[in-house]
Amino acid sequence: MESEHVRALVGRARELAELEGALDQLAAGEPWCVQIVGEPGIGKSRLLSELCRRGEDRGYLVLNGRAAEFERDIPFGLIVDALNDYFGSLEPVVLRALDDDVSRELAAIFPALPRDPDSAVSRGEGAERYRLHYAVRSVLERLARRQPLVLALDDVHWADAASVELLSHLLRRFRGPGLLAFAYRNAPSRLLAALEGAARAGRGSRLEPARAVPSSAATRRAGACRYPTAISSGPRNRRSRWESTSTEPASAQCTSSSASTIGWRAVNRSSTCLIA
Ligand SMILES: Nc1ncnc2c1ncn2[C@@H]1O[C@H](COP(=O)(O)OP(=O)(O)OP(=O)(O)O)[C@@H](O)[C@H]1O
Ligand SMILES: [Mg+2]
Repeated sequence: MESEHVRALVGRARELAELEGALDQLAAGEPWCVQIVGEPGIGKSRLLSELCRRGEDRGYLVLNGRAAEFERDIPFGLIVDALNDYFGSLEPVVLRALDDDVSRELAAIFPALPRDPDSAVSRGEGAERYRLHYAVRSVLERLARRQPLVLALDDVHWADAASVELLSHLLRRFRGPGLLAFAYRNAPSRLLAALEGAARAGRGSRLEPARAVPSSAATRRAGACRYPTAISSGPRNRRSRWESTSTEPASAQCTSSSASTIGWRAVNRSSTCLIA
């Protein structure tokens, strides 16, 4: 995600304020959940990456992972992607502090953790599955007690079923300063109930980033738009989907000086979004 920061973030004042608010919840010792939702190329990963950077700037522990389209059948693939390296880097003293049962359960799914060759491998069924969920939650809560934790997961629409189930458990049961941040095009159906539960409990926010369009009607009619100066440092000729044109009417005008230089407007279905 680091490479995303080479290019300046354009706009997103409202979304960034929401993300800062989510990080503030952790400072208050509370769990929180943020969903970043939208079509391909709208800027979900970019916002998630910005959340991670801001979390790190605050001294939080930031762990991130990404689901992959061709790994949907790999149980816990997304969770392992997010946590395995970090768990593997933990000092032995931290791992020794975990209950034996918890360590055994974690070792069953995280290859980086030492495994007792005599212990049975959890197949992730029934009670075993619950023990796994408990073990992962338990270690994350322990980490969060030392340092607020951000778990940022991208492309969750491709998440494997076992990870989705574990994330639902975390959404329902996690206690302490932990932020679960998800970016997805459509939420996996099995995650929806837990997301709704977090929202009902007043422990979550949902962002739907606006689409950017050129403010010039002529450019819009031409069906193309140029990349704004502020973010033109990438490879020439590369046009991201984020900058593609829209036939929808723009509903919010840029207000910042850099925005007026750029001359873009933001389309937002729900509320004003600034291109800054
Ligand atoms: N606010 C922004 N300012 C500058 N560049 C942006 C902004 N939002 C997105 N981009 C750029 O647009 C491109 C697409 O954005 P991004 O990858 O975040 O989309 P996405 O919604 O995650 O798409 P997908 O669903 O395909 O994963 C990237 O190159 C990203 O850096
Ligand atoms: Mg993305």
